[in-house]
Parts: sequence; structure tokens; C-alpha cells
Amino acid sequence: MVKICCIGAGYVGGPTMAVIALKCPSIEVAVVDISITRINAWNSDQLPIYEPGLEDVVKQCRGKNLFFSTDVEKHVSEADIIFVSVNTPTKTRGLGAGKAADLTYWESAARMIADVSKSNKIVVEKSTVPVKTAEAIEKILTHNSKGINFQILSNPEFLAEGTAIQDLLKPDRVLIGGRETPDGQKAIQALKDVYAHWVPEDRILATNLWSAELSKLAANAFLAQRISSVNAMSALCEATGADVTQVSHAVGKDSRIGPKFLNASVGFGGSCFQKDILNLVYICECNGLPEVANYWKQVIKVNDYQKNRFVNRVVSSMFNTVSGKKIAVLGFAFKKDTGDTRETPAIDVCKGLLGDKARLSIYDPQVSEEQIQRDLSMNKFDWDHPLHLQPLSPTAVKQVSVVWDAYEATKDAHGVCILTEWNEFKTLDYQRIYDNMRKPAFVFDGRNIVNAEKLREIGFIVYSIGKPLDPWLEDMPAVA
Ligand code: NAD
Ligand code: UGA
Repeated sequence: MVKICCIGAGYVGGPTMAVIALKCPSIEVAVVDISITRINAWNSDQLPIYEPGLEDVVKQCRGKNLFFSTDVEKHVSEADIIFVSVNTPTKTRGLGAGKAADLTYWESAARMIADVSKSNKIVVEKSTVPVKTAEAIEKILTHNSKGINFQILSNPEFLAEGTAIQDLLKPDRVLIGGRETPDGQKAIQALKDVYAHWVPEDRILATNLWSAELSKLAANAFLAQRISSVNAMSALCEATGADVTQVSHAVGKDSRIGPKFLNASVGFGGSCFQKDILNLVYICECNGLPEVANYWKQVIKVNDYQKNRFVNRVVSSMFNTVSGKKIAVLGFAFKKDTGDTRETPAIDVCKGLLGDKARLSIYDPQVSEEQIQRDLSMNKFDWDHPLHLQPLSPTAVKQVSVVWDAYEATKDAHGVCILTEWNEFKTLDYQRIYDNMRKPAFVFDGRNIVNAEKLREIGFIVYSIGKPLDPWLEDMPAVA
């Protein structure tokens, strides 16, 4: 029986391995992690991550051919194929700080694999890593190999949170990069055989190692660039009276451009877009390509601009101050259908409003008070370390309360900011909300999900990203 071990039981390792176990009953899959709480949660009824359909898949396989364990060394030494899906945060200190990927966790995993292995292994990069990481890993493994043959493959993951199970069941493509040697090709074939259990052959792409590593960074950069492009247009729409939804519809009808990923928003978030672009920028700089680096940097700059612009709209429309005013924040996760808050635009928007001394009442259907408080008091990039290694927040942010209902959050508020596109925010009783708010009552829709005309009929002053401005907002500058 082929044995697979995955190091790292996170948003990628957990769902990916659960689907492999589901589709390959003849393969034994062990997911291991240094975080005891995470593994305990995977073995309980309360899984550590919220992802539609995940619980079902885990329940079907757990205890049969899918195991979650903290016994990292045992499972690594027994495995034929080892996936490494550990954190690859942005470095906060030293060379490349603020840009380069911190490969501490990757390196420690590689050294441990070398230490405990007694048979030949295929080691698969699942984490998103800088180009040429495979070479570094190869060196660590071969210099400590005791005669064991290690083949390194790059098999980046393209799933998006909230749709992870569907993305894994029906991937657009599976990418496998490996050495162009007979042993390298044999390793590629062994991994292809795993995916071939459910992925059509023409969707499994084999490339060299460096192409696979770079394709992952490139794909995320292209996706984020689309959002920054449409968000840049949204600012121009507001200035000219155009409607960004109509513009993106018209643009997306061009089959060369396509309709997906053109929704203007308060900004993109998530654990990877910013991190991976920073990483790409750093690689370009290291390779003497400053023009290319600056091109991609701009994607992040526009994203920061969009979050600032939103905060400025809120503050300027409320008589240029939110000091002491209650602002309701609906949605804190970086997108709907996930409880993940990593790099969510809500963090920057909330910090901006707190900077102007607002009082915030936050509601998100999937994010806990503890998580929100952590996020609002944590330093940039600290979130991307294993939970038990993150610095604890010294004190909770006093001006923030977290409530469990949108009506409670909006009661007596001066304004409402919608920051995540949860479906339930579309169908709230906005008349009831209006009746319980201070007047004038404002709605700032950072996701364009409410019917602005209906809300205006109720009496709200409404701001929707990239839409013709409410007369109230027309003369108020959004750019500081
Ligand atoms: P995560 O933080 O959810 O999970 C990583 C896990 O690795 C943590 O549970 C941590 O405790 C564990 N870990 C760290 N070092 C370890 C070690 N030495 N031994 C055992 N366990 C260790 O992160 P994630 O979101 O799953 O991302 C993992 C990688 O996949 C990153 O490189 C990320 O860029 C990439 N990626 C993420 C997504 C996504 O949607 N989240 C999608 C594609 C790729
Ligand atoms: C993204 C990619 O879509 C995945 O392919 C990739 O594997 C993953 O990053 C990763 O490497 O981590 P994810 O971040 O989970 O997935 O979610 P997305 O659906 O891409 O959304 C990212 C952010 O962009 C969210 O904040 C979302 O609200 C925002 N977004 C998305 C927009 O503002 N507008 C859009 O049109 C689409």
C-alpha cells in the first residue's frame, strides 16, 4: 500500500489530503503537525477550519485511510511520498525583511525528513515557495541523506478558500514539476498516478521544477492584478459617474478577458496574494529586474490605496470625524464562506477607523471575538506563523466589541460598513436596522451586495464601491 504523509495540517494540508484519501481508498494518508491543538481539532467534531463540504469528506475517510497525528517522525519515516505544506511567511527581520519568504519552517521540515528517513522518498513542495527552493531543499536532503534517494517535486496548490473541496475535486489543472532525469520523471509519474484516480489526464501538467514553482507565484500575481485593475477603475468610476459593475460586465464579455474575478471590492485579502507578490517582487529585485519588480509592487499599492480610500469615504462623509461614533462592521473574514481572517481588508479598515477614534461593533458569522482581537492587535506578518508560536496580543482593543448578530451590531450606530460578502447581509431587514440607527444613517458597502436604491428609499445615505455617488458624498474627497 502506498503511504502518503503530509507535514502541515492547515488550510491546504487538511483539505488536500482529505480529498486524496477520499479518491484513493488504496492509499494511506497521514496528516501531521507540530500544533497539538490543530491535530486534536482535526480528530474532533469541530474541525479547525470552516470549509463547505470538508466535514463530509473527513468523516467518510477519518480512521479508515485518513489519519491526523502529532507523531510527525513516525509517519514521515513510513511514507513513500511526503507533502510539505507548512507556513511560508514573509520575513519580518534581516535580509529581505518585508518581502522575502521565510523558509524556517520548510527548512526544519526538510532537516527532519533527512534525519528520520530510512527508505527512498519523494518529497513534494505543496507550500508556495520562491523559485529555486527545490534546489535548496535538495541540497539539505542529499547532504544528510545517508545513501537514501530523495526526489523533489513541486506540486503547488491552486485551491481557493470557501470553494476548496470543489476546487480539489475538479481542479482546472494539477501542476507537477520535477527534475528532467529518469529518476525525476519516475517521481513525476508516481505523483501523477495518485491524481489520476480522479483528475483527467489532460489536466495534469508536468513541467520542470522552476516552471512549477514560478507558475504558482505568477498565477496569484495575475489574479490579484485583475482585482487591483478593477479596483483602480472603481475610483475612476466614482469620479466620472460610471458604474464599475457595468464596466466590468462590458469588459469581461470580451472572451479574451473573461468575466471572472472582476468584482470591485474594498480590497483583496487572504493569506497568499500579498505574500506571494512580495515574494515575486523580491525575486525580481534579486535577479536585477527592478522594472519588473515595480510593476508587480503596484498591484499591492493599489490594494492599499483602495482600503485607505474606503476609510476616507467613511470619515469624510460623516462630517470628517468618526471620533466616539459607533460604526457597525458587518463581516471580518477575507471573503465569504470561510472563517479565515489572514490579511483580511477588514483589519486595515478597522485600524483606519480606530485611528480616527471610532467605536466599532463587529459581527461576522464565522469569526470569533478572540480572533478579531488578535488580528487587531497583532504586528504585520506575525499571523503567518504556527498558532502556538505567534506572539500573544498584550491587551484587547477597548474600542472594539464583537457581537453575534447584525442587528445588535448596528443598534445605535451612525454607520454600517459591509466588509465581507456573506449572503445573509443581502437579506437583512434594513428598515429595522435604519429605525434603530442614529441619523443620518450611512451604509458603506465594500462588496457591492446591497440594493443601494432600496436602501436610499428607506432613508440611508449609501456608498457603494465604484458606483455613481450619492449626492451627499459628491463633494467629499475620498483621497487624503
Ligand atoms: P496554515 O498556517 O493553515 O498551515 C500550516 C501548518 O503547518 C500549521 O498548522 C503549522 O503548525 C504547521 N507546521 C509548520 N511547521 C511545521 C513543521 N516543521 N512540522 C509540522 N508542522 C508544521 O497554512 P496554509 O494556509 O495551509 O498554507 C500552507 C502553504 O500553502 C503556504 O505556503 C501557503 O502559501 C500555501 N497555499 C495556501 C493556500 C490557502 O488557500 N490557504 C492555497 C494555496 C497555497
Ligand atoms: C487565492 C487563489 O484564488 C487561489 O487559486 C490560490 O490557491 C490561493 O489564493 C492561495 O495561493 O492561497 P483565496 O485567497 O483563498 O485564493 O481566495 P480568492 O477567491 O482568490 O479571493 C482572494 C481575495 O480577493 C478575497 O479577499 C476576495 O474577496 C477578493 N476578490 C476576489 C475580489 O475582491 N474581487 C474578485 O473579483 C475576486
